[in-house]
Amino acid sequence: MTTALPTSIRTPDATAIAEAKALLQAGACIGLPTETVYGLAADACNDDAVAKVFAHKNRPDFNPLIVHVGSLDQAAELVELPPLAHTLAEAFWPGPLTLVLDRTEGCPVSLLASAGLNTLAIRMPAHPVARQLLQESGLCLAAPSANPSGRISPTTAHHVASQLNLPIVLDGGPCDVGLESTILRVDGNNLTLLRPGGLAIEEIEAVCGTPVQVLDKPSKITAPGQLLSHYAPSKPVRLNADTVSADEALLAFGEPITGAKTCLNLSSEEDLTEAAANLFAMLHALDGKTCSGIAVMHIPETGLGQAINDRLHRAAAPRDKVRDAK
Ligand code: TXA
Ligand code: MG
Repeated sequence: MTTALPTSIRTPDATAIAEAKALLQAGACIGLPTETVYGLAADACNDDAVAKVFAHKNRPDFNPLIVHVGSLDQAAELVELPPLAHTLAEAFWPGPLTLVLDRTEGCPVSLLASAGLNTLAIRMPAHPVARQLLQESGLCLAAPSANPSGRISPTTAHHVASQLNLPIVLDGGPCDVGLESTILRVDGNNLTLLRPGGLAIEEIEAVCGTPVQVLDKPSKITAPGQLLSHYAPSKPVRLNADTVSADEALLAFGEPITGAKTCLNLSSEEDLTEAAANLFAMLHALDGKTCSGIAVMHIPETGLGQAINDRLHRAAAPRDKVRDAK
């Protein structure tokens, strides 16, 4: 039995980083800022530590986790890197791109972290605090988003501390990207999108000159473990609103429609990067207001709009689909 201590938010100075490193080495989980969303991090090579991640998140089953590394050399110990993966890593790491690659023979990552698959999802985060911790500890860190299963992903240390009980959350400020990483399966010369995210497909295709196969509709489950109702606020969410009622909260994009009880604007300039960075924090904020539901204005389906719409469709999915969608 672990004692439930209130989560402590810490400025990531040398002392806090050293404590976080010691906790990870001892098999504990911590809250870690990344440029996409905050992660619930544990030593990926320690089965017990990885099991604690699932326990903290209260995940309905053992979905595979993303493993975070501090260098390309470290990645090469864990996964096979075909030339196309090298090209992608050189172009986009550190950054919001996760590659699903074959595990190397003798890959030390816990099988539980990849749910027994012979592939591993791996990325090199760009946030300076994550980079410092990865490089100083030499660990590779399994880190799903630091929210209980089915809830909105955290983009501030406060979101983490209000949802999970952890010994430390390192406070790296609000996440720059604000959406989880784009997940890409690299199989030889074939690229398949498993989850739209913080890096637009157009950018990937421009670098590789290879088309990315998209198997996915925004509301379908693609990467194993993606539940339909996944990024769910507790209030009902209504999409593509062109009118709003007086008891609803409005999540606007561009010029807000009038009449809502309360309103936050993802981007008054219709800037999709700004909208992505604001998405989860604004859903958290509106979910905390007294209102009957959250109406969301239309978001275009280009660039990061694809990932934003994917998260919004999940936020709006009927809650009784959670089990069906597994
Ligand atoms: O931005 C992010 O990626 C954040 C930050 C913390 O890095 N992490 C994150 O992790 O979003 P998580 O656990 O919430 O999402 C992991 C996704 C799941 O949808 C899972 O099914 C997929 O990655 N995944 C993991 N390993 C996989 C594999 N071997 N094959 C296919 N999908 C995999
Ligand atoms: Mg998540």
